[in-house]
Amino acid sequence: MRTEDIYGAPVRLAPDAEGTLEGSDGRYEKRLSDLAGLYRDDAAYARALEADQGEPVYWVESSTPSQVAGALTIGVSCLRPGTIGNEFAMTRGHIHRTVGAAELYYGLSGRGVMLMDALDGDSRAVEITPGVAVHVPGGWIHRSVNVGDELFTTLFCYATDAGQDYDVIAHAGGMRSLIVRGAGGAWAQVPNPDHRGYRSGETDE
Ligand SMILES: [Fe+2]
Repeated sequence: MRTEDIYGAPVRLAPDAEGTLEGSDGRYEKRLSDLAGLYRDDAAYARALEADQGEPVYWVESSTPSQVAGALTIGVSCLRPGTIGNEFAMTRGHIHRTVGAAELYYGLSGRGVMLMDALDGDSRAVEITPGVAVHVPGGWIHRSVNVGDELFTTLFCYATDAGQDYDVIAHAGGMRSLIVRGAGGAWAQVPNPDHRGYRSGETDE
């Protein structure tokens, strides 16, 4: 079998400011209607849904040339700005099923926060602006939050066989922290009163 059939062929990837990734081979998108239960303020979510036009609120375009061990998935994650109640727009978030698998995020446009929870207690929020990279180690649940007023786009890279567990956060009543609009519109990290701890063995499935 040829190298290319096993490992894939080299790929040129060219992201643009509108959230398109030239050279990608996959895309998924989330609409507001897909995100029931993500935000704490149910009334604010219901109001936003009434006014919603059904456009994607975030999407991912990515390149996965191979499923072989050691292969990388590289893509762009694009998150529209806004708030629901006092929480800034965010992705669902996940932990990798291969818990030790790390991930790189690199800011391309806009202003956001990478919110990260270690399974056993620590919580971090790192601001990302264009040119800033965040290394998310294995073992950290992570989600992107748009704290600016324009499209927040990042380039990401992870091992293709890392996998994603998207239920870990919902089972815990949300992440430990909320990223909210504070005084003067600046973002603030505050404790989430609904968080009830991450289940042990959550990622063993
Ligand atoms: Fe990830």
